[in-house]
Amino acid sequence: MHVKKLFYLLFVALVLLLAACNSDSDTSGEAEGGDSSGDDGGESAGKVEIFSWWTGAGEEDGLLALIDLFEEKHPDIEVENAAVAGGAGTNAKAVLATRMQGNDPPSTFQVHGGEELNKSWVAADKMEPLNDLYEENEWMDKFPEELIDLVSQDDNIYSVPVNIHRGNVFFYNMAVFEEHGIEVPTNFDEFFEAADALQEAGVVPVALGDKESWTATQVFENILLGVLGPDDYKKLFAGEIGFDDDRVVEAAEIFGKMLDYVNEDHASRNWQDSAQLVANGEAAMINMGDWAKGYFANDLDLKTNEDFGYFPFPATDDSFTIITDTFGLPKGVENTDEVKEFLTVLGSVEGQDAFNPLKGSIPARVDADPSKYDEYGTDAMEDFKNSRLVPSLAHGSAASEGFLTKANQAVNIFVTQRDVDNLIQALTNAAGEM
Ligand code: GAL
Repeated sequence: MHVKKLFYLLFVALVLLLAACNSDSDTSGEAEGGDSSGDDGGESAGKVEIFSWWTGAGEEDGLLALIDLFEEKHPDIEVENAAVAGGAGTNAKAVLATRMQGNDPPSTFQVHGGEELNKSWVAADKMEPLNDLYEENEWMDKFPEELIDLVSQDDNIYSVPVNIHRGNVFFYNMAVFEEHGIEVPTNFDEFFEAADALQEAGVVPVALGDKESWTATQVFENILLGVLGPDDYKKLFAGEIGFDDDRVVEAAEIFGKMLDYVNEDHASRNWQDSAQLVANGEAAMINMGDWAKGYFANDLDLKTNEDFGYFPFPATDDSFTIITDTFGLPKGVENTDEVKEFLTVLGSVEGQDAFNPLKGSIPARVDADPSKYDEYGTDAMEDFKNSRLVPSLAHGSAASEGFLTKANQAVNIFVTQRDVDNLIQALTNAAGEM
């Protein structure tokens, strides 16, 4: 009897011991890829996979500089640059969705602050909160409050912004403007006068490359901003003003008119190809987010305010359309410590100042070093401080991905058919998904 009981107790102790060992190794494998690294067992230990759509000219320079800085600081951590080409994430977002649904998230991925982050990934409970990282790095007063709000939900912060791009800018070829005596336009009337003069002189007034339809959506959102003003623009995307509002109709009409001045081959060009038309003087100007500044200055070697100039999209000079690229920590990632190290570098002054001067954006942090930026950058920093900030539809902040997909389709049809009623109807029908 006695012996039997002793054996039983020994058996239970053995089972508990084995269970404890087992669960130890599980946890270290799951949460601490880096810490268990006396042996170099796990494939994922010490590796960070960075997913974005920054490949090629005008896109990747900033990312590569950031990766270089990270590798310098953490030579032990391997980086995999898993970028998928396609402006504004045209292809990357589909690849990401498949991976997230298949529980195979990248270590960290590019996502716009606002609805793209909140309505897609936070709502689906796919992201880890990063409040502890913000606290450890004392970031709460280093990023503007509005920006932290854009990447937060219910007091949890879900990503780290690396930059702020401006979307309501026109870039123009200074020699072309000068040759034809064109003044920088400030409203739609002046804009169309300038466009007429350029067209008469045989220059394409406006470059467009809507092979991927977000570029046309971007033009339309800026016209909406110009016609509605910042408050009502925000109300439109908050569902408080309908897409059948007279001013949306007016914006669609102005959009149609603007399309009369674009290059004929717009549907076969991407954003870089269309920006090239401005660079080489075949076209006079282009509305493009200021990643075009990075492209002109770093890839095409053009000089800011000598070769190319810039002005706010007509009638929007009191506003700044924010496009912020951010990176977070998906749930289910094994090597969270390494990913947090990467996010720490990305959110640091040094990281932001390595990335942004090349990307054309301004730092998301308020305490970065302005001397690292050219005149476009310092102007944009000033404008950011003094303007009304509005979210971009084309770049994921103003509305859900579902609505954006439908808006892109409707805009794409409008570009060829120019049917205002159809566009208004399509947007009105999609509004429920905002
Ligand atoms: C935006 C993104 C920018 C830039 C641009 C063109 O959506 O925020 O960083 O990459 O697309 O691809």
